[in-house]
Amino acid sequence: MTLFSSFTPVLVTIISILVVIILNSKRKSSKKQDSKKNPKSESRPWVDEDLQDNTELQLGEDAEDDGWKGLEENLQHVPFSSERYPEDEMVERSRKFYELLNKRRSVRFISDEPVPREVIDNVIKTAGTAPSGAHTEPWTFVVVQDPEVKHKIREIIEEEEEINYMKRMGEKWVHDLKRLRTNWIKEYLDTAPYLILIFKQVYGLLPDDKKRTHYYNEISASIACGILLAALQNVGLVTVGSTPLNCGPRLRVLLQRPINEKLLMLFPVGYPSKDATVPDLKRKPLDEIRVVI
Ligand SMILES: Cc1cc2nc3c(=O)[nH]c(=O)nc-3n(C[C@H](O)[C@H](O)[C@H](O)COP(=O)(O)O)c2cc1C
Repeated sequence: MTLFSSFTPVLVTIISILVVIILNSKRKSSKKQDSKKNPKSESRPWVDEDLQDNTELQLGEDAEDDGWKGLEENLQHVPFSSERYPEDEMVERSRKFYELLNKRRSVRFISDEPVPREVIDNVIKTAGTAPSGAHTEPWTFVVVQDPEVKHKIREIIEEEEEINYMKRMGEKWVHDLKRLRTNWIKEYLDTAPYLILIFKQVYGLLPDDKKRTHYYNEISASIACGILLAALQNVGLVTVGSTPLNCGPRLRVLLQRPINEKLLMLFPVGYPSKDATVPDLKRKPLDEIRVVI
């Protein structure tokens, strides 16, 4: 009995060591299996994480997507007509439109000079003409003009962006951005008279709380972003589109957007500051972006 009790601490130590060794080897083998299952599981934050906010709701069994059943099947079809221009006028119009959009630049120095709200509303109406998967129009444009809310947005973005630049983005990405002279300080979030935040609706919420599938919601909302950029250029306003990495959930909560919405892009909008500069970038010529077959 005495012999046994003097052995007890030794036994306990041996058993503890064995348990630690077994647990460690189990953890390693499960990690190996994970990486075998998904060999491409390396982090690609610009692809996945910028839109992740852990609120992704899959349509489960108890949250059936039966909203489509209420949709009008026999939608009336009406005659369509559009402007038809003589060919030389078409060439002229296409050239002029190209020249207008070719002057668009991402401007990171935005003046606080006021811009009429009606212009912003028209620009958003224009963006809302975008095509969308099954005409689901899966977008919400949040216009922020309240200086206090703009400042809160700036605080959230700068806080997250500092971590992005220091830790999440990695050396290569930060290096690629160096020549654009961007960093986590974003004064334009305070100075621009408007911030437009585009949320993609990952599914629709019908009045009776039913869910509606939003097909290709990200592509659809991204097309709307493109049209928004063209509409801003058309009225002489500037912006710089951004996809604030890891800020989506906090901004969604701040702006009280529902759970089916995820931040896609943020556009500060206004006139350029008097001393605004842009990087001297060149665009690829036609031959490099077009293939004719
Ligand atoms: C999806 C997307 C995300 C972007 N994110 C940022 C950003 O976070 N910060 C920034 O300063 N510019 C951002 N930009 C702007 C690009 O840097 C800019 O479009 C690019 O340098 C080309 O310049 P240009 O827009 O003047 O032609 C983004 C553009 C796109 C399309």
